[in-house]
Amino acid sequence: MHLRMDALSAAERYKLLAGTVVPRPIAWVSTLSAAGVGNVAPYSFFNMIASAPPLVVLGAMRGANGGLKDTATNILETKEFVVNLVSEPMLEAMNLTCVDAPPEIDEAALAGLEMLPSELIAPPRIAGAPVSLECRLYQAIDAPPGSTIILGEVVAMTIDERFVDAATLRPDPVAMQLMGRVHGVGGYTRIRTDRTLARPVYEAPPAARGGA
Ligand SMILES: Cc1cc2nc3c(=O)[nH]c(=O)nc-3n(C[C@H](O)[C@H](O)[C@H](O)COP(=O)(O)O)c2cc1C
Repeated sequence: MHLRMDALSAAERYKLLAGTVVPRPIAWVSTLSAAGVGNVAPYSFFNMIASAPPLVVLGAMRGANGGLKDTATNILETKEFVVNLVSEPMLEAMNLTCVDAPPEIDEAALAGLEMLPSELIAPPRIAGAPVSLECRLYQAIDAPPGSTIILGEVVAMTIDERFVDAATLRPDPVAMQLMGRVHGVGGYTRIRTDRTLARPVYEAPPAARGGA
């Protein structure tokens, strides 16, 4: 089956891409509005895309009314957000926060989340999340007709010290029980390491080395 994207509806494109580009990590994003109202929502159009500078990307689709979602509005207005990563014990609370609540409602309260202050930015982080990334807006890209792409620079990380080797700074995402998203209709997967491969080292063939 060969599918041209311009022949499909937005819903069909979403279904096909969200069900094949998997698993996706989940950014559980906490923000503050310009007036200081808290907001928490999950975004799985999310990844790390650079380490120098340390950048993450979020993709916010337009809301049901065609306007920006609260997370995108808040980030564009305040230029700050926290990406909290989702562990399996917090999966159901995460799901509660995707409810389409009006801007004056803080989903953290709806889901019974405890919020803790961040170190460098104003939006708080979610207590109990194994990792929280404090981010400042790096660049926002309007992608009409339906999306806003947000690049964030990670300025600080809080990581549960049980899950990181203090000497090597190597984290253990399996022990953290981080979850990924596998399709757009409520499917999630655990993170695990099934195979480990050594990185290959290129060896030039004998002719290239000047041999016979
Ligand atoms: C696991 C999960 C991942 C989601 N990922 C996205 C996403 O990447 N982009 C998006 O626009 N909406 C995504 N949604 C839907 C938003 O969370 C939902 O529209 C939410 O109400 C937005 O809240 P806000 O207006 O407070 O930002 C996701 C929902 C779930 C449950």
